[in-house]
Amino acid sequence: MNIKKLRELRKQRLLESIKIPKYNKDVTIDMPFEVPTFVKWAGGKRQLLPQLSKFLPKKVEGYFEPFIGGGAMAFYIIKKYNPERVFLSDINEELINALNIIRTKTNELMTILLQYRNSHSEKFYYQMRDKDPIKLNDIERAARFIYLNKTGYNGLYRVNSKGKFNVPFGRYKNPSIFSEKDFREISYLLKNAHIEVKQFYEAVSNAKSSDFIYFDPPYYPLKKGKNFTKYTKGDFLDKEQEKLAEVFKDLDRRGCKVMLSNSDTDFIKGLYTDYIINKVKAKRMINCDATKRGEIDEVVITNY
Ligand SMILES: C[S@@+](CC[C@H](N)C(=O)[O-])C[C@H]1O[C@@H](n2cnc3c(N)ncnc32)[C@H](O)[C@@H]1O
Repeated sequence: MNIKKLRELRKQRLLESIKIPKYNKDVTIDMPFEVPTFVKWAGGKRQLLPQLSKFLPKKVEGYFEPFIGGGAMAFYIIKKYNPERVFLSDINEELINALNIIRTKTNELMTILLQYRNSHSEKFYYQMRDKDPIKLNDIERAARFIYLNKTGYNGLYRVNSKGKFNVPFGRYKNPSIFSEKDFREISYLLKNAHIEVKQFYEAVSNAKSSDFIYFDPPYYPLKKGKNFTKYTKGDFLDKEQEKLAEVFKDLDRRGCKVMLSNSDTDFIKGLYTDYIINKVKAKRMINCDATKRGEIDEVVITNY
């Protein structure tokens, strides 16, 4: 992108950003429609959709989301634009399996989850947690993942050094384990999507010119060592963020439209100086320390 065009776009964005309503507690107010959910996920974008939607392209024919997580943005994009081609991926095998099972085996999954709902107790939670997911069939594996997510502490996904899920019991009075309406809608929305376990840099290798890619990686910590960035066995720190910035630049050169969310830090902004850096206000939903759930700035970076 040439400097003149970049300056013009930045100026225009600055003017537009004045019109963006301040983050509202009842965030659904600005939404043209609801998006379904199937898990609680750290960094989930559901609450930010009214703000993020202002930065989306006018049309989306091919869509890639390589850090799908809770899928809020993907469900929104599919509902709004109905893209011809959709490629969703994440490195978390449990999450990807659950999405594939919701899509293809909705009834069988709900039958098992109803049994889990009836058996729910602290003892049952730890029995489920102790099971080795790779010894279960794919439907039981998805049910275990969703059940643990909805009844475990704060919806966290955390594994120990051996890759074993180790989040404690959540002590909710009446946890809602699933919504039939949401599962059916997700199944419908994902009917033509490719959903795979992939590293982010492999996930976009087939992206074509004018395809749209949204990156929502594990955020760079505001203070190193304090923030939760361990979604999987691997870390996502300087080296991975730099690699992601390279992938962003490569997609830009290939003529794709690219948007990325991250924390508002000098390190991240320094990686994307050639692009447009917008800000949004986010409410931190999952933080182990309840006193630290406040509003923070996040960046939304675009190449268009
Ligand atoms: C911030 S979350 C995404 C939030 C999501 N967009 C949502 O709305 O809920 C980051 C995701 O990146 C995934 N992840 C971490 N490292 C990855 C990698 N190297 N390649 C692909 N996905 C990765 C994690 O499993 C996690 O689901």
